[in-house]
Amino acid sequence: MRRLSTLFLFLLFVSIAKAEDGSQLWLRYQLANEANVSGIECLAAEELKKFHIGKEVKLALNANLPEESYLISDEDGISIQAKDKQGLLYGAYALLRSQYIPSAVHMGQIEKPFFKLRILNHWDNLDGSIERGYAGKSIFWDLDDDQPKAIDSRLITEYARANASIGINGTVLNNVNASPRILSAPYIQKVKEIAAILRPYGIKVYLSINFASSMALGKLKTADPLDKRVQAWWKAKAKEIYSQIPDFGGFLVKANSEGQPGPGDYHRTHAEGANMLADALKPYKGIVMWRCFVYGANHKGEDRVKQAVSEFKPLDGQFRDNVILQTKNGPLDFQPREPYSPVFDQIKQTPNMVELQITQEYLGQSRHLVYLAPMWKEFFQYVSPYSMKGIAGVANIGKDRNWCGHHFSQANWYAYGRLAWNPTLTSTEIANEWLQLTFSKVPGFLDAMTKIMLESREACVDYMMPLGLHHIFKFDHHYGPEPNGFIARYPLEWCPVYYHKANQDSVGFNRSSTGTNATSQYRPEIGKIYDDINTCPENLLLWFHRVPWNYRMKDGSTLWESLQYHYNKGVTWTEDAHNIWHNKMRHYIDQQRWQEVDQRMEHQVQNAREWRDVCLKYFGSFAEKSTTTK
Ligand code: GCU
Repeated sequence: MRRLSTLFLFLLFVSIAKAEDGSQLWLRYQLANEANVSGIECLAAEELKKFHIGKEVKLALNANLPEESYLISDEDGISIQAKDKQGLLYGAYALLRSQYIPSAVHMGQIEKPFFKLRILNHWDNLDGSIERGYAGKSIFWDLDDDQPKAIDSRLITEYARANASIGINGTVLNNVNASPRILSAPYIQKVKEIAAILRPYGIKVYLSINFASSMALGKLKTADPLDKRVQAWWKAKAKEIYSQIPDFGGFLVKANSEGQPGPGDYHRTHAEGANMLADALKPYKGIVMWRCFVYGANHKGEDRVKQAVSEFKPLDGQFRDNVILQTKNGPLDFQPREPYSPVFDQIKQTPNMVELQITQEYLGQSRHLVYLAPMWKEFFQYVSPYSMKGIAGVANIGKDRNWCGHHFSQANWYAYGRLAWNPTLTSTEIANEWLQLTFSKVPGFLDAMTKIMLESREACVDYMMPLGLHHIFKFDHHYGPEPNGFIARYPLEWCPVYYHKANQDSVGFNRSSTGTNATSQYRPEIGKIYDDINTCPENLLLWFHRVPWNYRMKDGSTLWESLQYHYNKGVTWTEDAHNIWHNKMRHYIDQQRWQEVDQRMEHQVQNAREWRDVCLKYFGSFAEKSTTTK
């Protein structure tokens, strides 16, 4: 008897401790092989046959339903109806999800994606490296003597499946800082192979292009968009691409930004550049996603956060109807907290899509547990999803076993897809779903970790740059703190001191009407709130205002005291979160993932302390001496 119970305990322990490496993401379904799936032969049917636990599912096409939507009902057995196979697949994944989370399916209700374009942007270089990637090398590209290597079809299939399971329907396969070679024949061939794997999962491929490709590849002496030879070159290139990939999605373009070529090199406007490409793609229904991330070129000396509006507002209305402007959520660059970009208020006639960053370039990369859904929801509070044609997310995916480096960074990929499908889902709902699918349903785990996820972004803001501070990162790698950063040979807009302007009296960037007047770029009701120091939200105070160290915050503390409070609060949060994970979560999940997360959280605590210590020492060197503080 004793031996038996020991054996039982041992088996129990082995099953709990069974190593998981995170490679299955949120798709950890047990193979069931029991469902009888009738109706239509398709990928949805295959998935259900393998993983559905119930006995019968009927699949049917219904021409009356909207594209990509599905309708699951449970009268006379379970059925999934959809207009197309893509809808059936989305329905199948919802049904599988509901085996773990019953509320994942609303029986009898048509479910349709909110955004038509739900796209991932991979900043993958052709040599396999990834710009701002923190989870290993590219899953698409690898060089072999200057030629693309054979693609890893197994990995790309898994990638497609994961994306389809959360409704993503497009992917840009290469970095916005694009090599012209992506449009050469060997690469187009690879893109065709990748497209063939992604197609059954309803995912279209797009490419980032280099605006000067007609020179690098076509041997023309110019890339002037009004030059007939350049136009002809792009038309021929589009024809070549579509002859290989008939459902190719289109181009993503970073032009005249951070050294990239563009129409400005020929004194042409962004509209002239975008339209030339749009004309080449139009016969095939392709689109151009033209990025608004520009600064420095035409508006030297102007506050960087104002430059996108200055550049694009005069062009509004001049773009072809297959051009969409793609704009980052904030006007600077994916900071832990930014106000929304006023491009969304000022561009009225040209379709817009928002670019979010899933890879945590400025939020602890893949070393910190920072759940980004609350940040994206904050953006949607100001910019209505209804005003946008689509949504793009800069991917955090690489060849690491667990895809994203940190197990919890997978949650950001998941949350992006879920919000692209339905931006009214709450951060809590998404965190809860993801935790149940990825780790455990046990309330002791679920409640504690949902709370930690929800608080994590605000904590990151607290220990990195609270109260509206921004861009005080170490030069270029954007990880650690360097509030004193200044390198004379680089543009001032790359130096932290430009953004906080601390001295013995005050700190912060005056963007109000007495300063750069960036507040005037917002719609009046919001601009007015930001412009007045008394109504500006305190979490954006130093973004919009220059504030004396002894300024009284709403709770009565001085600005300097408040800054210290926030830095300390952020650090305490990381210590508490790690304490909970380390001492209480271990028994709920497998050892491998517990340990890997534990190590990263320990690291996060150390990093948070470094942020606090460096920043408070630096800002304190002004504040403590300030004659106005006492
Ligand atoms: C940031 C990022 C760059 C990237 C750029 C962009 O500046 O650090 O690596 O190329 O954004 O979005 O184009």
